[in-house]
Amino acid sequence: MSTPTDASTTEHPPAHHRRIRSFVRREGRLTPAQSRALDALLPRYGAAVAAFAQPTSLFERVAPITIEIGFGDGDNLLAACQAHPERNYIGFEVHRPGVGRLLDRADKAGVTNLRVCSEDAAETLAGSAAEPWIDQAFVLFPDPWHKARHHKRRLIQPAFLDMLAQRMAQGAQLRLATDWADYAEHMAEVCDAHPAFVNAHGPGGQMPEAGDRIETKFERRGLRLGHTIADFDYRRV
Ligand SMILES: C[S@@+](CC[C@H](N)C(=O)[O-])C[C@H]1O[C@@H](n2cnc3c(N)ncnc32)[C@H](O)[C@@H]1O
Repeated sequence: MSTPTDASTTEHPPAHHRRIRSFVRREGRLTPAQSRALDALLPRYGAAVAAFAQPTSLFERVAPITIEIGFGDGDNLLAACQAHPERNYIGFEVHRPGVGRLLDRADKAGVTNLRVCSEDAAETLAGSAAEPWIDQAFVLFPDPWHKARHHKRRLIQPAFLDMLAQRMAQGAQLRLATDWADYAEHMAEVCDAHPAFVNAHGPGGQMPEAGDRIETKFERRGLRLGHTIADFDYRRV
């Protein structure tokens, strides 16, 4: 007889209910500085998932919000925070050594316009206020998931764009970059076809140069492997 403690009722949900994630959580080794930074600085810079019900409450002032999803070591995010003190920044990264590294450097640089969320960006954003609160979004060198059977794990998908579009202000910018030719094709195809976004460089068009971002760690790796970099600039219409 079935009871409420049966594994069928209390264990993991059936596989088809589990979220497909765009990452594999690799804990990696934390350096002492990263570890100290996480302990000491997350209380100040950390953005708890619950706070995304009202994202503007994450900051003491009202200013346009830029998000960066999967910031890695945070080089671009830190540079952007410093180059644009008039903007507020929220970075998402599940790899804790990267989060620790960014927090350590942000603190040393006296950065105050930054908040960091170390949870799944897609899930956190989907649970955030379903109103336009994002003025700019960067997704730089997202995991390419190059095997065809893994393509469903790629972050840039129609459903992800639907969710993001609902939270992006009119005219807001979506900046994408990849060193993976097949992912570049996929990005252009999916974003060009989405009714809420327009490619600032025409259908399939790429930016002539990286412009508003700095070279990232994964970009350097791609260049070493002889890959070509594709940068995209989409606007929320
Ligand atoms: C290939 S790396 C690129 C890192 C960095 N942008 C760069 O160019 O050097 C992709 C990063 O995205 C992070 N990531 C992937 N999916 C994510 C998600 N849903 N939420 C937060 N971080 C994510 C991974 O942990 C990884 O560090």
